[in-house]
Amino acid sequence: MRVIITENYDKLSEKAAQIISSQVTLKPDSILGLATGSTPIGTYKYLIEGYQKNLLDFSSVTTFNLDEYCTLSNSHPQSFSYFMFTNLFDHINIKKGNVHIPSGISEDVNKECTEYDRAIENMGGIDLQLLGVGHNGHIGFNEPDDEFIAPTHVVDLTQKTIDANSRFFDSPDDVPKQAVTMGMKSIMFAKKILFIAIGEEKAEIVSKMINGKITPKVPASILQLHPDITVVLDKDSASKL
Ligand code: F6R
Repeated sequence: MRVIITENYDKLSEKAAQIISSQVTLKPDSILGLATGSTPIGTYKYLIEGYQKNLLDFSSVTTFNLDEYCTLSNSHPQSFSYFMFTNLFDHINIKKGNVHIPSGISEDVNKECTEYDRAIENMGGIDLQLLGVGHNGHIGFNEPDDEFIAPTHVVDLTQKTIDANSRFFDSPDDVPKQAVTMGMKSIMFAKKILFIAIGEEKAEIVSKMINGKITPKVPASILQLHPDITVVLDKDSASKL
């Protein structure tokens, strides 16, 4: 595990975008695993800047997002699909057909999950997976549990996650109670992982994920087993290492 500690959020975003840019430059048809949430917004801004300066070409890139809320259509302003288009895809030259985000409103959600995993496998797996982390250690929406769950699946969100994500909604009651999330298999089979975290409120979980016991109670702790992971932190999230 490589750990890079940066001065602040802007430097973290720049560093994370450099790592993704190198991936896309070296392998233009990269399969990228992408995350939503507040942490990667700065990274996506730097990627857009790279594209606008003609330094980056996403025309052959394929993406798979980690997760989506159940019950929200992809045009809902709080859906992760909407987030990805407004914060990244609408501003770069990625082909819309190469974008994959699990559907939260599929009529047969189990089939949707199986097909999502099959689509990732058919592409040869993810080359670089970007990950943030929840305060409770979730990656994607793999919440603390008694076991690590391998396939893409529907998850009941914990109250902690619902509370944390209520900042994006008008009221906590509006936060969906379930989500579809990529499971640990696709994440751990990614050839490279780029993990980012910011802020003092993530310091405890970052310390557990890097130095703690590997346990499904702290889902991110499984990343200690990944052979090629780069962790980029700001000073605050690294303060308990
Ligand atoms: C979202 C996702 C989540 C977030 C996590 C941190 O696609 O995968 O695991 O990365 O909830 O969210 P922020 O960045 O908002 O603190």
